[in-house]
Formats: sequence, structure tokens, C-alpha cells
Amino acid sequence: MGNITAAITAVGKYLPEFVLSNQLLETMVETNDEWIVSRTGIRERRILKEPEKGTSFLAIEACKDLLSKSQLDPKEIELVIVATATPDMQAASTAAFVASQIGATEAFSFDLESACSSFLYGMSTAARYIESGKYKKVLLIGADMNSSMIDYTDRATCIIFGDGAGAVLFEPNDEGLGVQDEYLRTDGQGREYLKVAAGGSMLPATAETVEKKQHFVRQEGRTVFKYAVSNMADVSEKILERNNLTKDDVNWLAPHQANLRIIEATANRMGLDATKVMVNIEKYGNTTSATLPLLLCDYEDQLRKGDNIIFAAFGGGFSWGALYLKWAYTKN
Ligand code: UT7
Repeated sequence: MGNITAAITAVGKYLPEFVLSNQLLETMVETNDEWIVSRTGIRERRILKEPEKGTSFLAIEACKDLLSKSQLDPKEIELVIVATATPDMQAASTAAFVASQIGATEAFSFDLESACSSFLYGMSTAARYIESGKYKKVLLIGADMNSSMIDYTDRATCIIFGDGAGAVLFEPNDEGLGVQDEYLRTDGQGREYLKVAAGGSMLPATAETVEKKQHFVRQEGRTVFKYAVSNMADVSEKILERNNLTKDDVNWLAPHQANLRIIEATANRMGLDATKVMVNIEKYGNTTSATLPLLLCDYEDQLRKGDNIIFAAFGGGFSWGALYLKWAYTKN
């Protein structure tokens, strides 16, 4: 890396209004609040109910929040990346639509998909554009309408996922703040354990695939859990070692919000006290690409310029990683 680092300078978020509580889920599938809270930490999630609105709607609203708070002229944005596992459609870029709708008319844009690691990989991608010196304003959005691929009769998945979006602006920094290092990994052997089988090129949509409910996400929860715990903890530990950071140097862990037990296992391996761990899973469940930017929005008031934040994620693919960032501002 050269002298320019890529710092986050603004954040924004959007959550749909409808609250799907554990109590409401009890009326839909064979489950109960006590089981869900003790096994996952989730109490409620948000669901986008408006007809004919998709992930782009969530993303646009999160961008509007960021734009209104930062007073940024959208015409200054040069690149819009939408990290998502649930694009509006298979063949038209969600990011292109989002960029147009928010007035980022001078930007180019693309979608980035790597399941629950999409936003983490998006941070790495956005940072490279900024570090190149060629781009000064890159907007990264993590947005997912998970309810579009959930079978609300399947208790193994419907209790976990929610809808939401978060947006962050990356800009060059000359004080050494922003993205410092990353450790990103994938293992394609894992795709059998967490996937939407139909609707892609391997198994295009037919009456039969719909009949067999193959357009819904399915996961072998126990297997995914096992890999998530060991891999998220491994990369988080590695990133500390590689940057000569002790647990005392870390101000915050920002972990993907899939299961409170996975979050706690990662924090324990790093030796971190619970007060340093960002958690909002109880309110939103697993929002896939949106978990990390939603954490930044919810904790923005507590973050201080220079804080060392370790981001970590694990998801379908399998895909996972950790990223070390120095926070660039203190909100007044
Ligand atoms: O975002 C990245 C990808 N996703 C993840 O990281 C998710 C990783 N996996 C998990 O978070 C957990 O595996 C789950 C939350 C999905 C499931 O928790 P678990 O502790 O692994 O439960 P389990 O699947 O091992 O099931 C334990 C028991 C079973 O009953 P028996 O066989 O012990 O009698 C299940 O049938 O709990 C039962 N069960 C439920 N009970 C009430 C499974 N789901 C439910 C439910 N409500 N929703």
C-alpha cells in the first residue's frame, strides 16, 4: 500500500418497519422464544412487506440517510458498490439502479456477491480503488432482502434472517486512518451446506423447482455453525498477530451477526471483553450483507477517531475473513 489509506467518513442505514418478533414466529412454525433467544440471541427481525420493492429499495433508503447526514453531493460519488446476496434481478445490476436513483449520475457501479461475506469483501474492494489514488469517493452499500428467499415454514432458516441495509462512504486519508490489513478466505467445498439451489444457471426455474421449493435458502445449520466458529476465530486471531496487536490494542470487534454464540466464540478466542464487541443481532437477526454497516451505524456515537476495529465475517460459499480498520472520526 502507498501513502493513501481508505477511511470510512460517513454511514447510513435503513430497516423496514414491519417487525417479525419471536412471538409472531411461534404462530407460524413449531418454535418458541426461549429456544430462539438461547440458541441465536435473536428477538426480532425486520421484513420488507411493500409489494414490488426489492433490495434496491433498502439500499436507496440507506444511501438517502447517509447523504442527508453527510451533506454529500451525490454527483461527487465516483463508484457505487452494492454488496448483496439478494439482487433485485438476476441479469440487471442492482447497483446501477441504486446509483441512478440517488443521483450518483457521474458514478459507475457494480454488484458484489459473496453471501454473508459480501460487505467485508466490498470493504476490501472499495479500499483498493481509493488506495490507487484514482478515486476519491466510493459508496459501499450492504443490502439484503432475505425474506425474498425464506421459506416461512422452515424453522431452520426463518427464525434467523431479516431484511435491512447499511451504507458507508470511503474517502482517501493522509493520517494513516482507515483500512490497514485484511485476511480473506474461501472454500468452495462448503457450498452444499448453505445455498439456494434453483433459479441460477445450474438449475434454472421450472414448475418443478418451484413445486419442490428449491428457490428458498436451505442450510445445514450445525455444519455451518461449526465452520463459522473455527474460521472466524482463526482469521481474527491471525489479523491480530500479523499486525502485532494485543487484545488491549483492539477497541472494537465488529462481527457478522449470524448467531450470538458464533460472535461470543470469536470474541473469546481473541480474549476480548464483551464491552468491546458490537452486537445488534437481537433487533435485526442476520441481515447477510447489511450486518457490518448496521453495526457501524448503531455504534457510531461510541466510536472515536483512531479506534482499532476488527471486522470478521463468515458465510455461504464458504467465504470468510477479517479486516483491520482504524476509525477516522469522532461524531460530535
Ligand atoms: O450467516 C452465515 C451463515 N449462517 C450461520 O452462521 C448459521 C449457523 N448455524 C446456526 O446458527 C445454528 O446451527 C442454528 C441456529 C441454525 C440452529 O441451532 P443449533 O443449536 O445448531 O440447533 P440444531 O440444528 O443442532 O438443533 C437442535 C435441536 C433439534 O432438536 P433435537 O434433534 O435435539 O430434538 C432441532 O430439531 O433444536 C431443534 N430445533 C428447533 N427447535 C425450536 C431446530 N430449530 C429449531 C427452532 N425452534 N427454530
